[in-house]
Amino acid sequence: MKLKTFFRAPLPGQVIFGSGRVAELAEICEWFGRRALLVIGGGSLERSGGLARVEEALRSGGVEWDVLAGVPAEPPVECVDEGRQKLHALGAQMVIGVGGGSVLDVAKAIAALAHEEAPCVAFHRGEVKVTQRGLPCIALPTTAGTGSEATPNAVLTDRERRVKASLRGGDLMPAVALVDPQLTLSCPPAVTAHAGLDAISQALESWVSVGANPLSDMLALDALRWMAPALQRAVSEGSDLSAREAMALGSLFAGMALASARLGLVHGIAHPIGELYHLPHGLVCGLLMPSVMEFNMPVAGGKYAVAARALSLAEPGTDDQQAAEALIAWFRSLLCKLGVGRPLGEYGLSPADFDFIIEQGLPAGSTRHNPRQPTADDLRAFLQKLIEAY
Ligand SMILES: [Fe+2]
Repeated sequence: MKLKTFFRAPLPGQVIFGSGRVAELAEICEWFGRRALLVIGGGSLERSGGLARVEEALRSGGVEWDVLAGVPAEPPVECVDEGRQKLHALGAQMVIGVGGGSVLDVAKAIAALAHEEAPCVAFHRGEVKVTQRGLPCIALPTTAGTGSEATPNAVLTDRERRVKASLRGGDLMPAVALVDPQLTLSCPPAVTAHAGLDAISQALESWVSVGANPLSDMLALDALRWMAPALQRAVSEGSDLSAREAMALGSLFAGMALASARLGLVHGIAHPIGELYHLPHGLVCGLLMPSVMEFNMPVAGGKYAVAARALSLAEPGTDDQQAAEALIAWFRSLLCKLGVGRPLGEYGLSPADFDFIIEQGLPAGSTRHNPRQPTADDLRAFLQKLIEAY
């Protein structure tokens, strides 16, 4: 077996995983100080009782905090600047993000840019670079999806330019990923399905990425082993803690895998499609995944076959081609079982937007890590097909 001789794997300073572990938040905060900016999304965290558990932990540890609430999906760069103002007003020594991927991304960006002067948009457009070490971020995911608790990037939107892209860099990696699957118990079925499709797509993309390496392979394959049998159950039986735990662990592993291996074509074009039609990121990823796997078959079929066998999807004695096809068929049937299996044309995808999607998607870092490099014509044909198929 040929060993890949070079790889790098950015990882959170510490990973703490387990149901009920949110109670450890007070002790973790003590490592960094006594004042924190708490970043959260809409009201669902409050309604679920999750916010009360977080605040109880902070109170018991004597932590003083202010809150940046209402972080939206597809968060704009301005949201980060609002958080930086609150952070400075409080003199906070850390940022705590409790929410889905958007919330965690904003929390990470606030922490990373804490000591910078320029507005967030200047970093997002690449006009300036981070020069000073930021503040620690503690990331508590409430969805099992993006794996943002374990990645050194924050996806933000520049609404003026209609560009959704990542801020990327070591300072964006959370100091602590505190993954308590109980925080995901109240995640609604549709969000659970979309987030889970994102996580499974991320595992599959890192598995075949040109940056795949021994560590990311181990994480990506194990991520699939945990999530593939659990997603449907987490959606239909939201209170099933074992399904939630499997999804939380799998999405964490997928995040760690992608931080090292990067992603692929699905994520390269999911951002412009999501931005154009305001579709949930995970839904777009899921709808793109089977067709991208078909496109990648000539170069990645062998690895898809390994994944299919690991998930017991291939009949004994089948060859790699048949095993890989079984993986693709399984993914399509998963989309149907989750009730989202419809062509992207029905979600709004239109040829009028192909130029924009290609212009944004082709040079994306994720696309460059896809195992098979598409041309603009490949992408156009691919998008045309997606109008009527998934
Ligand atoms: Fe994703």
